[in-house]
Amino acid sequence: MQHISSYISKNKERFINELIQLLKIPSISADSSYAKEMLTTADLIKKSLLEAGCDKVEICETKGYPIIYGEKIIDSSLPTVLVYGHYDVQPADPIELWDSPPFEPIIKTTKLHPDGAIYARGACDDKGQLYMHVKALEFMTKTNQLPCNVKFMIEGEEEVGSNNLASFVENNTEKLANDIILISDTGMIANDIPSITTGLRGLSYVEVEVTGPNRDLHSGLYGGAVANPINILTKMIASLHDKDNRITIPDFYNKVEKLSQEERAEMAKAPFNKEAYKKALDIDAVYGEKGYTTNERNAIRPTLDVNGIWGGYIGEGAKTVIPSKAYAKISMRLVPNQDWEEITSLFTKHFKSIAPKGVTVEVTPHHGGQGYVTPINTIGYKAASKAYETTFGKIPIPQRSGGSIPIVALFEEELKSKTILMGFGLDSDAIHSPNEHFGIWNYLKGIETIPYFYKYFTEMNN
Ligand code: BES
Ligand code: MN
Ligand code: MN
Repeated sequence: MQHISSYISKNKERFINELIQLLKIPSISADSSYAKEMLTTADLIKKSLLEAGCDKVEICETKGYPIIYGEKIIDSSLPTVLVYGHYDVQPADPIELWDSPPFEPIIKTTKLHPDGAIYARGACDDKGQLYMHVKALEFMTKTNQLPCNVKFMIEGEEEVGSNNLASFVENNTEKLANDIILISDTGMIANDIPSITTGLRGLSYVEVEVTGPNRDLHSGLYGGAVANPINILTKMIASLHDKDNRITIPDFYNKVEKLSQEERAEMAKAPFNKEAYKKALDIDAVYGEKGYTTNERNAIRPTLDVNGIWGGYIGEGAKTVIPSKAYAKISMRLVPNQDWEEITSLFTKHFKSIAPKGVTVEVTPHHGGQGYVTPINTIGYKAASKAYETTFGKIPIPQRSGGSIPIVALFEEELKSKTILMGFGLDSDAIHSPNEHFGIWNYLKGIETIPYFYKYFTEMNN
């Protein structure tokens, strides 16, 4: 790729400023009071894709927030790359824990980001990472070096389960036809240890409701004589793990993919510093399923976690009450071969079966998706690996991630193509947390690396 470094250094300030403009709009998909901002964000992305050289960009309406589709087709006999990303972001709360307002981006330097990082909700997940692709396209079109066709599909509902993307994909398989799907919505090990994500976990997300008496009761008059839904719910939740931290739901592990000793040994080669890991989180010990390392626990093993729990009196002071209801939100991260709908029903059946007499239990599934693993012996992986090698000067390490992008498995099913996950964020970038940020070095490195993927992928397809 000719002139990529000089193009980036010449346009660096503008690249950063454009991303800052995008980050200023609070595109929170979970909160309907930001519906207008969602549409403004979609418009801005459309405009930026047109400016970057797309010939056609459409805002495609859905039952929820629109999907932006853009393309530049130079020659139908050449390969086509489909870029996916999401313009919605997580809610900013707890807002009081941010050091600067989440939608007023600022640049600060940190130990891991000596060149500065942009602090804002969505900086890394996923506006910053998706915008790298827009700027990479700009470079390739402005310097006449786009080697193949490119399509963009940018959705606004990833953080709430991609509810309308599946039908969009199913109804537009021809329009979305491609040779490879490219996504930057994951991370890498460290700036000097590049890695390519080769796996994502699946997800089953449910909400449970335990109901006891028909109204909140005086805890003196009734305490000890009726089941307290919060006492019961916490007991039920506690019983979902055994002493080895294995999940107790019958048949939960039946389909879990077993990795060979060789595969586990290969995984163990990825650099990991347990002391630094604990220090970064201010914890005195790691925790998890017996018999597995930290990297295994958060990538190749399934989990069950309570994401939120509430009920009873949580206001100021004390109130003596036995609540009528207790609630929890529970997520299970799944690994390849586990089917999320099957797991959801195993959970439901089990959770209801462990409820004692005196309460009723309801389980409501929220959303879910299958896990994904991508082989490393494909042209797509090899092209990505060579692209990192070119710009980082090191061969990237293949590594499975614990996170989920549930729609990736559906892409493969519907569009029959593999996905390459070229993420440039770091785990410490605090996605979904207060003070989310994205390193400027990472942002620019992404813009530099992506065009090489196009180049090598096109060459290797010949
Ligand atoms: N970009 C993340 C997923 C991710 C982050 C994967 C880092 C690997 C490494 C995505 O936006 C996300 O947050 N996904 C959700 C699932 C979704 C259904 C809400 C998740 O993983 O919790
Ligand atoms: Mn994301
Ligand atoms: Mn996310």
